Amino acid sequence: MSAAPRLAGVIGWPIGHSLSPNVHAYWAARENALAHYIPITAAPDDASFRRVVEGLCAAGFRGLNVTVPHKERALRYADEASDLARRVGAANMLTFDGDRARADNSDVEGFAEALRAAAPDGFNAARALVLGAGGAARADAVALKTAFAAHVTVKNRTGSRADDLVAEGLADAAAPWGSRNETQADVFVNATSLGMEGSPPLDVDFAAAAPGAAAVDIVYRPLETAFLANARRAGLIAVDGLEMLLRQAVPGYLRWLGDAAPVDNALREAIRARLTTGGAKA
Ligand code: ATR
Repeated sequence: MSAAPRLAGVIGWPIGHSLSPNVHAYWAARENALAHYIPITAAPDDASFRRVVEGLCAAGFRGLNVTVPHKERALRYADEASDLARRVGAANMLTFDGDRARADNSDVEGFAEALRAAAPDGFNAARALVLGAGGAARADAVALKTAFAAHVTVKNRTGSRADDLVAEGLADAAAPWGSRNETQADVFVNATSLGMEGSPPLDVDFAAAAPGAAAVDIVYRPLETAFLANARRAGLIAVDGLEMLLRQAVPGYLRWLGDAAPVDNALREAIRARLTTGGAKA
């Protein structure tokens, strides 16, 4: 009898255009691992999510990545959770141990690693501006504070949501959305859905950017947004959403499926080729 394959997947609604199966398949093929990573749908209610996840656990899945709209639900579902997942208030990983599930958040590490990789000689991220206040903004703010000890200012169209991040200790200050061109910062983050295919662009002129500053965009369809193009023109380091998508996938692969998950140019090119078709996140 041959060995059973290692199984993991990504759960979302919808999930058809997820790039994560391609990322994991690339790593598994590279080291000839007997491993499968499967896209799975669960309707956006607690009962459907529980039924699907419990079935996958019983079927021998080692873990799941979790994407929109289930990240908060996954944290509630889990029997235990990492400090980071609890702080962000959402989980993008569930790891099974027997019939218990542990929640983690590798979006935080993915963001930090993408920023580190963009400036291998070190990066001064003393002052950060996060635009947006949804789930992505929460993970990015936590990464900036924990990995870079940054002072994080949040600006969001709906100001009360930015205030919530400050009240929860995820950010240091909130300021009006209309003042987004006036911030002197070392890192500028687009954590809104602006710039995504079908959404208007995010206009930031970067006139107040510090020398050597970086701009990070969570959007990866398209890869080159107006936000990043403006940043490059102003001389900033630009970090695109694909960088974060690839890097948040690394912990899951290493925990569930195999031994080596390099984020290299070959992987980036393979996934970039898939971006020509439209679709959802992660
Ligand atoms: P996610 O959890 O994926 O981050 P979300 O909670 O829906 O998703 O957050 C989307 C973010 O994009 C929010 O910060 C949202 O601003 P609001 O809180 O005011 O809704 C922001 N956003 C979406 N469309 C926008 C627009 N047209 N102008 C400005 N901000 C926008």
